[in-house]
Amino acid sequence: MKLVFLCVCVIAALHAHYHATTQAAQLRRVWMQDHCKNGICMNIEIGRNDFVLLSQMPIANQIMLSFLNSSISKIPSLMFETFPDLQVLHMDNCSVDVLESPQFEGASNLKSLSLAHNQLRDIPKNIFLGAENLHSLTLNNNKIQKVHNMSFHALKELKELSLANNRLEHLPTGIFAPLRKLLDLDISGNLLQTFPRGIFDKNLNLTQINLGRNRFAVFESELFKLQHRITMLDLSGNVLQELILNFPELSTAKANNCDLRKLTVYGYVSELELRNNSLREVPHLQHAANVTSLDLSHNPLGAMRGNPLRRYIGLERLNLSAINMHDVPEQLFKKQTQLKILDISGNALYNMKFTIFDSLKSLEFLCFQQNNWNCDFLQLLMNSYVKRRDVGYIEDTIEPEMVDDYIDGVACWYENNKSSKKCDSATSDAAMELAIVRNDMKSFVDVMDKKFVKVYRMLDEIKAHL
Ligand SMILES: *[C@@H]1O[C@H](CO)[C@@H](O)[C@H](O)[C@H]1NC(C)=O
Ligand SMILES: *[C@@H]1O[C@H](CO)[C@@H](O)[C@H](O)[C@H]1NC(C)=O
Ligand SMILES: *[C@@H]1O[C@H](CO)[C@@H](O)[C@H](O)[C@H]1NC(C)=O
Ligand SMILES: *[C@@H]1O[C@H](CO)[C@@H](O)[C@H](O)[C@H]1NC(C)=O
Ligand SMILES: *[C@@H]1O[C@H](CO)[C@@H](O)[C@H](O)[C@H]1NC(C)=O
Ligand SMILES: *[C@@H]1O[C@H](CO)[C@@H](O)[C@H](O)[C@H]1NC(C)=O
Ligand SMILES: *[C@@H]1O[C@H](CO)[C@@H](O)[C@H](O)[C@H]1NC(C)=O
Ligand SMILES: *[C@@H]1O[C@H](CO)[C@@H](O)[C@H](O)[C@H]1NC(C)=O
Repeated sequence: MKLVFLCVCVIAALHAHYHATTQAAQLRRVWMQDHCKNGICMNIEIGRNDFVLLSQMPIANQIMLSFLNSSISKIPSLMFETFPDLQVLHMDNCSVDVLESPQFEGASNLKSLSLAHNQLRDIPKNIFLGAENLHSLTLNNNKIQKVHNMSFHALKELKELSLANNRLEHLPTGIFAPLRKLLDLDISGNLLQTFPRGIFDKNLNLTQINLGRNRFAVFESELFKLQHRITMLDLSGNVLQELILNFPELSTAKANNCDLRKLTVYGYVSELELRNNSLREVPHLQHAANVTSLDLSHNPLGAMRGNPLRRYIGLERLNLSAINMHDVPEQLFKKQTQLKILDISGNALYNMKFTIFDSLKSLEFLCFQQNNWNCDFLQLLMNSYVKRRDVGYIEDTIEPEMVDDYIDGVACWYENNKSSKKCDSATSDAAMELAIVRNDMKSFVDVMDKKFVKVYRMLDEIKAHL
């Protein structure tokens, strides 16, 4: 009796849909029982015009479904009628190319929807009606170009949203307004240049925001003036040059690959990533003492004279890799008694004073590969510090040219070695000179790389206009 009733229901629903869809619609049976096991469904093919029946009757207690190795042009209309208890639906990399209303009717139990790595081009308005309890929506790596200010209407419970790696150029003002509970927003890897004023004014609880790899040329802290809980901000890969961060308390701020020349930070920040910028000096932070992790690698900082780290007394990780440093000033790490991990690799260091280790009482890991070490010094460093204190280190894996020797895996050069390939009458001066030349080459290549970024971007823009 029950079975007959359900059949009639499904058929009635089907008829309603069938007549509503295009004439080319094709009725197909894709029995989920044949394809799915323990919530994993394989090898399903559903075309744009297929109207599929998934089961003869609803399948209760199915909480989660993941589709693998499938080609599904659109989420079947009867999905949530067939699986009324569905909470988690993963349809990543399934060639989904369209969302069609009413797509989420009956999806009131759905908490997590992932449609990453598909072919979606737009998010129609009101498409999520019915999925009002969705917590997490993942739409990264599609081809989304168009969003409407009602695209996310009804998602009042949404906490996480990813639109990363799409083709968004503009966002309408009201787009995030329904998402009052949003905590985590990822819009990295798009083509955004600016935000409309007030776009985040309803998202008061935002805590993590990733704006990386867009085309922002300025960052307006002003946009987030109402958000007091932002702890993670990623701006990497935007060409910014000058950046002012004004947040009460960030746990992580990332601005890697930005060509930054100047950074001003108000408020507290614990982890600061500034890799591959154009900083010529260590940023002056009001609350430098509260920074625990600082990455300044691949910046033209050079000699590090004048105790630039003296106020960074709470550092536990410090990365000074590839900063164009010829020697380590004796006082440089005097205040870094908490430092656990120090990276000075990829510089032009030849030797250094052992007294610099006096203050580094907590050091557990020291990366010093890819320098121009003198072999005698390196041997001493290994024996009397690195191995004796059981400090971790990394061996040279990339073979530098003209190496004289390796000490415990780290490349080095002898000062007076007649048989050395590097220089026939090598003196300590010559070794030093070579070190400097090698280093200048490195930084020259770095600078050139950065100059070309702008040109490439301009070319991209011109191409886009054609
Ligand atoms: C993936 O799907 C294709 C076509 O549906 C099928 O021929 C192939 O065997 C599947 N591969 C795996 C690993 O299931
Ligand atoms: C998507 O699936 C194809 C095979 O169907 C596979 O080759 C490819 O690596 C997958 N891509 C991702 C991002 O998982
Ligand atoms: C959505 O956009 C329309 C037209 O652009 C506008 O009239 C409307 O006020 C916007 N709605 C919201 C919530 O921003
Ligand atoms: C924001 O977070 C606080 C504390 O977790 C919570 O009490 C409040 O309800 C949240 N607001 C919204 C709109 O979710
Ligand atoms: C360094 O940053 C520039 C942008 O300033 C970027 O184009 C380049 O790819 C980055 N280099 C690396 C190694 O990430
Ligand atoms: C900043 O550091 C000081 C001293 O190291 C500490 O007392 C304070 O609690 C820290 N504040 C924050 C917000 O981390
Ligand atoms: C320091 O930075 C370099 C280059 O950005 C990176 O390769 C290395 O892993 C970093 N070191 C540590 C200890 O994280
Ligand atoms: C000189 O350099 C060669 C490698 O080029 C090395 O094998 C040799 O031990 C070095 N000799 C001295 C005296 O350092």
